[in-house]
Amino acid sequence: MIQSREIRKKFLDFFEKRGHKVVPSSSLVPDDPSVLLTTAGMQQFKPYFLGEADPMKDFGARRATSVQKSFRTSDIDEVGDERHLTFFEMLGHFSFGDYFKKETIKWTYELLTDIFGIKKDRISATVFAGDDKIPFDEESYNTWVKFLPESKIKKGPRADNVWGPPGPEGPCGAANEVYVDGMEVATLVFMEYFCAKDGGLTPLSQKGVDVGWGLERMAMIIDGKANVFETDLLQPIIDLLPKDLNSRKKRIIADHSRAIAFLISDGVRPSNKEAGYILRRLMRRLITHLVDINSKELFSRVINLYNETYPSLNLEAILSVFSKEKEKFDKTLKAGIKELKGADRIDPKLAFKLYESFGLPYEVIKDVASEKARALKREDFDKEFEKHQKISRAGREKKFGGHGLILDTGELKAANEEELRKVTRLHTATHLLQAALRKVLGNEVEQRGSDITAERARFDFAFPRKVTGEELKKAEALVNEAVKKALPMQKKTMPFEEAKKTGALYFFKGKYPAKVNVYYAGETLDSAFSKELCGGPHVQNTKEVGEFKILKEESASAGIRRIRANVL
Ligand code: ALA
Repeated sequence: MIQSREIRKKFLDFFEKRGHKVVPSSSLVPDDPSVLLTTAGMQQFKPYFLGEADPMKDFGARRATSVQKSFRTSDIDEVGDERHLTFFEMLGHFSFGDYFKKETIKWTYELLTDIFGIKKDRISATVFAGDDKIPFDEESYNTWVKFLPESKIKKGPRADNVWGPPGPEGPCGAANEVYVDGMEVATLVFMEYFCAKDGGLTPLSQKGVDVGWGLERMAMIIDGKANVFETDLLQPIIDLLPKDLNSRKKRIIADHSRAIAFLISDGVRPSNKEAGYILRRLMRRLITHLVDINSKELFSRVINLYNETYPSLNLEAILSVFSKEKEKFDKTLKAGIKELKGADRIDPKLAFKLYESFGLPYEVIKDVASEKARALKREDFDKEFEKHQKISRAGREKKFGGHGLILDTGELKAANEEELRKVTRLHTATHLLQAALRKVLGNEVEQRGSDITAERARFDFAFPRKVTGEELKKAEALVNEAVKKALPMQKKTMPFEEAKKTGALYFFKGKYPAKVNVYYAGETLDSAFSKELCGGPHVQNTKEVGEFKILKEESASAGIRRIRANVL
């Protein structure tokens, strides 16, 4: 049996030998605010394709290779068949204004045959046939012909043979699909255009290559397995499940438990929107199917399988987030299923009602109701969902306009006691974050604004450049250290001039009242980890903050950076 570990290594070694810099996987939560989750290896390299960042400076090369944690919501309804997954690992190699089609195709063929031992007659490829905007990919065709008989090279349409952009706009270009035994295993994208929101194409200043291979599919093929769930990447999870459970359910459990573990460890938390909503749906579907299965055992198995390759996997966080969601959902799940079973037919309106009143996601309704929900389509459910979101957004705006909030300081907003507790923790967390950022980046860092709701904290600060992933990790670790130290969060009232002398931070440039409050985390003002002028509210002890996680760093405006963060 081939170990998937070996496939990862052989792939990276192959490209390292050919001048590529090996770059670690980036988070499933991308820096790019226009996409929710990382769907491909190229995500972290988008600025290099667009010529906005210099690969020579960052990697010492115009070539990079990686194994990237990826997630595709679009495949969620397919999970259960032989080869679809939500979370998967993408083996990738990239050229930023360096090699192009000839080298890429040659290496793809060499890897398949020489390195992975796949016979030529099992391989086929497709290239772009051309349309009114992008011409026939003749160069790819003529290169493939050197390796495969013409009968194995097909010309395909735009839907299959043009890739990108990831998100609303970005790099894109003609693509080759590569198949083994009729199953797609790799996509070779030749980045040549910037694809705008309106679909307009403009040539990029440099050409690029973005290649992605599916690790699970390669493991399946190389190891001669019938489906991806029988590979060493997933079979050990399946082995934990009751033998008599039907195989589709087993596959859903294996896929979703793995995805949940990775999403939580990268800082996603369940909520009703964006990435949090995706996580919530996966968790609720898993909870629905998890009869007689111990979730601790399940997630421990995932961790055992993956923590050597991905040491940031965090069992404690996974179990804590999962059990909280389970507690919440268990309260309504039974009643929801009863309601669902009592209905004759489930139309989009009823499906949405089941979600709204009982928290049953679309997938759960489809899984449990089977026949009765046969005609139910995701797009119709999503339409109902959007309608409702519009109404609730309008309601919230009204509420946030001054009605119904129990706390509204401008920066902090909470609608009830539960939200108040959460925003209070996040508020203390932003104080710790500012102190941590100044320790890592220097005193140039100065708060320029913050916006805290029960969903997340947003913290804006003056700083002249992008903060690197490593710097963010350091700042995050410093905050978590301060949390672990269980420092008292104290308040001293004193005249503004005196407060200034203590070194307490303040960012409001207007007039302060004669007496101000200095909040500090530590035993004494002198030794405090953080001290700031502030109106509160804050926790009493930093340990109440819980685990702190930076989710995103991006530009807010010229010279101002924005961090989104959450607490567990
Ligand atoms: N970015 C390409 C894909 O995701 C390689 O298929």
